[in-house]
Amino acid sequence: MLQATMILPLVLTTLVTVANASPLEPNKRLDNGLGKTPALGWNSWNVGGCSTATAANALTAAKAFVNLGLKDLGYSYVNIDDCWANKNRNSNGDMVADPSKWPNGIKSVADQIHGMGLKFGLYGCSGTQTCAGYPGSQGNEVRDAKLLASWGVDYWKYDNCYTPSGNSSGRFMRMRDALAGSGWPIFYSMCQWGNDAVWTWGRSVGNSWRTTGDITNDWASAAKIGAHAGTIAGFAGPGGFNDLDMMEIGNGGLSAAEERTHFGLWCIAKSPIILGTDLSKISASSLKIIKTAGLLAINQDPLGKAAAPFKPSGKPAPVSGKLYPYWAGPLSDGVVIGLIAVDAAATLSVSFADVPGLGAGTYNWTEVYGGTTGSGTSVSASLGLHDMAVFKVTKV
Ligand code: GAL
Repeated sequence: MLQATMILPLVLTTLVTVANASPLEPNKRLDNGLGKTPALGWNSWNVGGCSTATAANALTAAKAFVNLGLKDLGYSYVNIDDCWANKNRNSNGDMVADPSKWPNGIKSVADQIHGMGLKFGLYGCSGTQTCAGYPGSQGNEVRDAKLLASWGVDYWKYDNCYTPSGNSSGRFMRMRDALAGSGWPIFYSMCQWGNDAVWTWGRSVGNSWRTTGDITNDWASAAKIGAHAGTIAGFAGPGGFNDLDMMEIGNGGLSAAEERTHFGLWCIAKSPIILGTDLSKISASSLKIIKTAGLLAINQDPLGKAAAPFKPSGKPAPVSGKLYPYWAGPLSDGVVIGLIAVDAAATLSVSFADVPGLGAGTYNWTEVYGGTTGSGTSVSASLGLHDMAVFKVTKV
């Protein structure tokens, strides 16, 4: 039988355990005031992997944001991915920027980027090492978050390599709480490749979460990631969005039509748009796509609801894993419709009567890539293979 003297320590232990456990509660909302709309920016990884994690590349991208008019359109985060650090922590236990890549350290670059009215992001990992073998933050979350804050890092992409087995949520929550205690607002970009159905708990932990493994520079990859996004659209909302991975626009693996669909789908799915190309070499055609103001406005719509596939009457039903041609989603001032020529050049038409959020009647529409406008009871687009039209539809 338990005696009173034995019960008290038991109660205290239980209370302490509950208090310690609270930072890891999955239902604790992330409310860091950031990411009310999806992040817009650039990242070094799809440009050149490890070799591009340098101060020079960050500053070149920041200057391009200003000179190409991307900053004026809302692109703000200049992010450096894996391989920016020395392989070992210093004697204090802190991560150190590789001096051959960051001759004046990280803070000097972050300061310059802030001086241009932009924000600066870095990459780390929830395991013992990053995917490329640089220091991970496991067990050093609080120390590392403080270091990031001292450098003025505004965006932290947090990866999933060299991790212990088991559900990833605890690891990602530990960094959430470390960032929250760092004293500096840091956008928290979770990168655990869609594991553990992250979209079901992601909004209580991060500002965005990767939904799949890495994108590759080809149509099949973009189409597969896009198709998957259609199944989890309902989990996105202000403060936390499905991250369909960084853009491949400008990297040569996609036709102009495919680049339009890659950008259009990511925008209407409310994914972060993190450019992944060398902006000093981008073609006029690719630049035009990433500067499509009407699509950026849809992506940044304050309602923050992601578009999803819908089946117009008489059309074949969606097939699991395959990109579907008909998409729609609500906007704060209307509805967005996306039409994609998935299998062949095609003329695609939808009646507003079939579109979720609309219904039979006459509406105004604008096709945001071409700028054409009209009014009627349906929309139609003649598209080349893999091309996309995006209509913003509003009440007459
Ligand atoms: C992957 C991640 C990529 C990139 C890479 C760096 O795990 O998904 O986006 O960050 O690591 O090593």
